[in-house]
Amino acid sequence: MAGPDSTPTPDRQGLGRRRFLGYAGSAVAGAVAGTAGGAAWGTGRDGHRDGGATRTGPGAEVSPYGVHQPGVAAPTPPVVELVALDLLPDVDRDALGRLLRAWTGDVEALATGRATPGDTEPWLAAARADLTITVGLGPGTLTAARVDPPRGFEPVPPMRHDRLEPRWSGGDLVLVVGGREGTTVAHAVRQLVRDARPFARERWRQAGFWNGVDPEGRPMTGRNLFGQIDGTANPVPGTEAFDETVWLRDPPWTGGSTLVVRRIAMDLDTWAELTRDRQERSLGRRLDDGARLDDPGPHAHARLAHPMENAGARILRRGASYASAEECGLLFCSFQASLAGQFVPIQRSLDRADALNTWTTATGSAVFVVLPGFERGDWLGSTVLG
Ligand code: HEM
Repeated sequence: MAGPDSTPTPDRQGLGRRRFLGYAGSAVAGAVAGTAGGAAWGTGRDGHRDGGATRTGPGAEVSPYGVHQPGVAAPTPPVVELVALDLLPDVDRDALGRLLRAWTGDVEALATGRATPGDTEPWLAAARADLTITVGLGPGTLTAARVDPPRGFEPVPPMRHDRLEPRWSGGDLVLVVGGREGTTVAHAVRQLVRDARPFARERWRQAGFWNGVDPEGRPMTGRNLFGQIDGTANPVPGTEAFDETVWLRDPPWTGGSTLVVRRIAMDLDTWAELTRDRQERSLGRRLDDGARLDDPGPHAHARLAHPMENAGARILRRGASYASAEECGLLFCSFQASLAGQFVPIQRSLDRADALNTWTTATGSAVFVVLPGFERGDWLGSTVLG
């Protein structure tokens, strides 16, 4: 769910739409400043190369090292698995450190296509698979390890439209494993979950997919299962706006982030019954090219989620679709420096009035602190637990 802003539509209605000019106009300003995505993907410029990841041409090896875990800023991968685990009852700070050291070794090996120790299918560790592994700690782990959370890290308060199910919610640890194809991703998940076994057991697992690559292997802004171009207004890696939106700045979390995972069911059947006009007005953007509508109305999703409606708050959205016989939807993932200051106000605005609420229902919710990155010789979480 990554991509630049599409070309903003000119104000066809003239100055009578002064209030709305603020909304459309800010998209122009954002694109120029590089804060709202610019026209990067539409023109072939790739604004999403952070961490060495690229989706153009052949597969790449994403370096596991750096100030940040590389999966956060990387483009949404075609295949992603999210796994939440719960700590076993006797796991304390020292034991957590052992788990994170073991995972560090796994991440180093898997990212470069090497087998992990004890791998019984080492030939599945593929090189240049665009593999990223992102590790986060849930609230229960912070308590067990006696670690203070970063500022603004709090549970997402109950929302009126939520229908949360325990089987898709919560978790003490999270692994977000992304890659260009499912075999490598499933293999990586298996190794990581196996090595966690003395410390934690799986709580939920959710698999998603995203069409962020065109047939020539070039990056593009993908579409969700409503058919909407999704990810357009995300901040662009490498810009100040991105850094301010995403990264934690205070020790010991410097270089980390926070992650919200929301499983959001989408009612594709009733959505499909709407006219195209109604679909576009519910979102506030056009379906063909994702451009903003001149006058989207007060309940349009993209308008209510816009920074102008939320005291400037922004988030980085990295979602993936899911589909089963039972349910289709979006594994909505959002990274931000502060849950309380960024995600929660936007989520509240949407819960209050979003037109899309008629067709979307959150059935799962979880929050995690994403660990800072690590350098060679160091380990994931060393600044927090070391
Ligand atoms: C199934 C649920 C959802 C769908 C189908 C959906 C879809 C979209 C689409 C198509 C756009 C416009 C293109 C773009 O800028 O990416 C958008 C924008 C946005 N959405 Fe969602 N979204 C969903 C849930 C959420 C949630 C839960 C949040 C946050 C609480 C959120 C926050 C945003 C934000 C911040 C924008 C950008 C607004 C702007 O700056 O213009 N969305 N969404």
